[in-house]
Amino acid sequence: HRYCVIMCGGIGSRFWPYSRTRMPKQFIDFLGTGRSLLQMSYDRILPLVDPAHIIVVTNATYAPIVRQQLPELSDSQILLEPCRRNTAPCIAWAVRHIRACDPEASMIVTPSDHLITNERMFEDCVRRGFEFVESHDALLTLGIHPTRPETGYGYIQIDKEVEPGFLKVKTFVEKPDIDLARVFVDSGEFYWNSGIFLWSAKAISKAFSDLAPDLDQEFEKGEGVFGTPGETAFINEHFPSCPSISVDFAIMEKASNVYVECASFGWSDLGTWSALYDNSPKNRESNVTQNCNVITYDSTGNIFAVRQPDKLVVTAGLNDYIIADAGDVLLICPKEREQDIKRIVNDVQERF
Ligand code: GDD
Ligand code: MG
Repeated sequence: HRYCVIMCGGIGSRFWPYSRTRMPKQFIDFLGTGRSLLQMSYDRILPLVDPAHIIVVTNATYAPIVRQQLPELSDSQILLEPCRRNTAPCIAWAVRHIRACDPEASMIVTPSDHLITNERMFEDCVRRGFEFVESHDALLTLGIHPTRPETGYGYIQIDKEVEPGFLKVKTFVEKPDIDLARVFVDSGEFYWNSGIFLWSAKAISKAFSDLAPDLDQEFEKGEGVFGTPGETAFINEHFPSCPSISVDFAIMEKASNVYVECASFGWSDLGTWSALYDNSPKNRESNVTQNCNVITYDSTGNIFAVRQPDKLVVTAGLNDYIIADAGDVLLICPKEREQDIKRIVNDVQERF
């Protein structure tokens, strides 16, 4: 049977001050569609997987938000981590949980904060991906054609095509520095890792036991407890002992059975304010205004995220800025300096 794991425990610090520890970006209706990024991720999976087989993994502090945003999920479909340990422990737990009720399961593992356009193509791509991992010993990732030397992504070097649309991966490099990223993009041999994975429970379980034995052993202690009422107590006791590491570093960089399926759908990881600007409808002055009343004079290329319909925002001669008013915090920052936001967040921790 086919399952879906939605990873939903990140904090989205680059979207401060909109994304806050108490309400990270995946729970926000970022595009003004009426659905949060998490809800959009859920909707996107519905045509592909039985709704009873969709699992959301998040931090325990976000349980009320997940229950409120996805009331269709039963409690056994929401896995609550007692602390933040990045994506490898999140996936290792979800795999154990799924395998306990279905050892023959295959699954898609997806982030909760991406934008995907052309959902029909996404569906076709995922269906083909499921068929591939159900007939091969493979860890499959959906690959994106790179358009710039982005350092926030994983890079996948492709080898030969094994089936139409499916390529063997030669090397997987997570978050290279800028010089290496440039070399990768210029070579034309690399894809970006979308962070959307497909595999059988068997293949990923073997990868954890071979490549991340420390992590795997922590969960092995609970063999027999997954899918039973004792699962929560076991996790609360043992999850904190897991190393904090992403699946990209723990598994994907090391495994020898990694394949990539080239994605034809539109994809953005909506990782930054600029990415949100690029993916939002613009007015005649090329400004993006979210739910606010804006009057501009000689001002273009700005994103106004104010979300107080009764507030009038006026700018004159302001170009390419982020203006984000979260009520208790107002951020004014040129788009080209948005990488400073991570640092700012560090400095103003009590307001994060
Ligand atoms: N449950 C849970 N617990 N989820 C988490 C945790 C955690 O501790 N940490 C992160 N997540 C969720 C995030 O909410 C997000 O939906 C997803 O896992 C990916 O985590 P990110 O922190 O956003 O990863 P990244 O963007 O730095 O890198 C990944 O995605 C890139 C594409 O967007 C990697 O897979 C890269 O290789 C990839 O290129
Ligand atoms: Mg991300």
